[in-house]
Amino acid sequence: MKLTVAVDGPAAAGKGTLSRALAAHFGFAYLDTGLLYRAVGAGVLAGGAPIDVARGLDPADLENPALRTQAVADAASRVAVIPDVRQALVDFQRGFARRDGGAVLDGRDIGTVICPDAPVKLFVTARAETRAERRYLELRDSGQPADRAAILADVQARDARDANRATAPLRPAADAVILDTSDLSADAVLAQAIAIVTRALPARD
Ligand code: DC
Repeated sequence: MKLTVAVDGPAAAGKGTLSRALAAHFGFAYLDTGLLYRAVGAGVLAGGAPIDVARGLDPADLENPALRTQAVADAASRVAVIPDVRQALVDFQRGFARRDGGAVLDGRDIGTVICPDAPVKLFVTARAETRAERRYLELRDSGQPADRAAILADVQARDARDANRATAPLRPAADAVILDTSDLSADAVLAQAIAIVTRALPARD
């Protein structure tokens, strides 16, 4: 069985939480494609050339906890506007999406560019203020320095950069189901997504 679930949406909308839970529920593999761009961003911060870093990426690079910082997220959003960087990451993502046993991929362009034929496409979003507050609580709870106003400004700047770039901008696919998580618990969002994926599963007799 090969079933691809594409999950797109802006930063801190709850894509990761949802995608991980969805993959666990169905026993599918999970790829956080933001980590690919973060790994390239981190390599550039360390002095590498974006395209060389992207072409030389190793899946083991994605395990680095340093990829979670705000500075790396910002660098990721900057390298993500470079068409050759995006191109270098396509095959790995498509290969992952086609694996046996099902796969959930989350990112910005999974339903529009990477897997336009995915049978399930979810676009997970929430108000910018809600997303910034969630990111603030996450950072604070993990003991990292956090400033509310700076986080909101960062979320808005990344939204603008991700949505306005020429190559693979952030937008819902025409056939995506929009899930606005602003006023929903993570469990409520998961229940909706499980129902959608269940309808797309091949019938078993
Ligand atoms: O999901 P994230 O915050 O880890 O993503 C970091 C940056 O990477 C984000 O600002 C835009 C970019 N990105 C992208 O352009 N396409 C993807 N499929 C995933 C992430």
